[in-house]
Amino acid sequence: MPSVVLLSDVHANLEALDAVLAHARLHAPHAARYHLGDLVGYSANPNEVVARLDAELIPGVAGNYDSTVAHGYKHCGCRSENARQEELAHESFAWTLAHTSVECKTRLGALPFRLDVRPLGGHTPGPRFVLLHAHSTSNLIYVTEDRSDDFLRKLGESVDVRSGDLVAFGHTHKPWHRLVDGVHYVNTGSVGRPKDHDPRAGYVRVDVADSGELTLAFERVPYDVERAAAKVVAAGLPTEFADFLRMGGRG
Ligand SMILES: [Fe+2]
Repeated sequence: MPSVVLLSDVHANLEALDAVLAHARLHAPHAARYHLGDLVGYSANPNEVVARLDAELIPGVAGNYDSTVAHGYKHCGCRSENARQEELAHESFAWTLAHTSVECKTRLGALPFRLDVRPLGGHTPGPRFVLLHAHSTSNLIYVTEDRSDDFLRKLGESVDVRSGDLVAFGHTHKPWHRLVDGVHYVNTGSVGRPKDHDPRAGYVRVDVADSGELTLAFERVPYDVERAAAKVVAAGLPTEFADFLRMGGRG
């Protein structure tokens, strides 16, 4: 049975990415793998994460962090809830701009905004997967779990999906899934910076039956958080980012 692995929001956390890749290799060795963007920002290994995904031949889409770093924009496009968060966002963005190589920025700038995938092949009618970072109109929109069915329906219409298809995105760093009119809306959560108070790396595996029926597994993978946190501090990034990894979000 074909499987598809969807991983999002790695955010320069190489330890979390490697743990997810090892887990996926073990449990779904022949899965097609895609990333949903936000490869860099907040942690210490932007170049290494991009190189690892390239080496593993994992295609994907551009997140807001990827495109803002690639184009040297003034801000990462992340939403802050208070002045301190905004200050930290600027520190992360400045550090990432300064420590991401020109070659890596070129790779980030070349990522497509959206990918359409047919796990059973283009010679069959479906199912179709539409892979986004955040939303079909903008990577600054947060598709959170409290969005209405109607909001999701409009998102589905905008990417022309039908019953049995799947729309996947990340950006909020909190995993969830809902079926609306037979369309699967899947937020994969985050590999390298979860915000749901579970520090383990998160990703989604979708098993696709010959009938086209989809079965989703939201996986959580323990990894060496302390090693990733120590790298954050050693890199001169704010210690709050190390604590964020340990707690799976803000305390
Ligand atoms: Fe993100």
